[in-house]
Amino acid sequence: MLIKKAKSYGFCFGVKRAVEIAESSKNAVTLGPLIHNPLEIERLAKNYNVKFVDSLENIDKNIKRVIVRTHGIPKNNLEKLKEKNVEIIDATCPFVKKPQEIVEEMSRSGYDIVIFGDKNHPEIKGVMSYSVHNRVYVVLSPNELENIRLHEKIAVVAQTTRKIEDYLKITNYLIKNYKEVRVFNTICNATFENQDAVRELSQEADIMIIIGGKNSSNTKQLYNIAKENCESYLVEDESEINKNWFKNKRICGISAGASTPEWLVEKIISKIKEVT
Ligand code: F3S
Repeated sequence: MLIKKAKSYGFCFGVKRAVEIAESSKNAVTLGPLIHNPLEIERLAKNYNVKFVDSLENIDKNIKRVIVRTHGIPKNNLEKLKEKNVEIIDATCPFVKKPQEIVEEMSRSGYDIVIFGDKNHPEIKGVMSYSVHNRVYVVLSPNELENIRLHEKIAVVAQTTRKIEDYLKITNYLIKNYKEVRVFNTICNATFENQDAVRELSQEADIMIIIGGKNSSNTKQLYNIAKENCESYLVEDESEINKNWFKNKRICGISAGASTPEWLVEKIISKIKEVT
């Protein structure tokens, strides 16, 4: 049986980069979890002695190196960190850094800032902290803008993982109601690339194995797309692989959620080879 991996699956560019940075910065700590994946964080702690601390107060004198997490941290935390006399290793995803820079520059030029995203998400907390004034409005829908009186100059950015169609609703509203709106497309395509790739591979495969947490929403999305096209299974680890699934199958497609590490994908592929 032929085993084929989707063109794009698993960790996105920013998460891969952060993990590589952590692996090469042994004995460091991260301020907050480096990425949203407990299994991988556990592995980094065990194999590379990279632990995470949950607040600045817990960075004591014995800590020499601090890694800034993929989603970034608020600007004032970064400044406090600089005062601590530690080596700072920045693993903020470049696609998250971009809206931080835009917000800083546009607020400095006098623009009101509108951010399309979730104000409780660490990425957005970081991005909004870069404004030099407090006219920053974080919204999820155009309705939320109706009661806000903005100035005539507005700059708008989006959380990296938002859907472009929803972003357009916000920018449409602003353009209809204000004279000068600077729109920046800060959406990252990584999640959508995994979905497109699973769609393509599941049309060719006889069976698809999707690897990831059963409560992970992006993994479930991949599974739902795959099962529209062929027999599909969602597994968390190799113990769930059942050899009967592969009888009379020619091509087995593999995909994994955005928080599934590559070593887990390889473990599952070995198991499939073993039983087929
Ligand atoms: Fe990943 Fe960076 Fe995009 S962390 S989802 S590549 S914004």
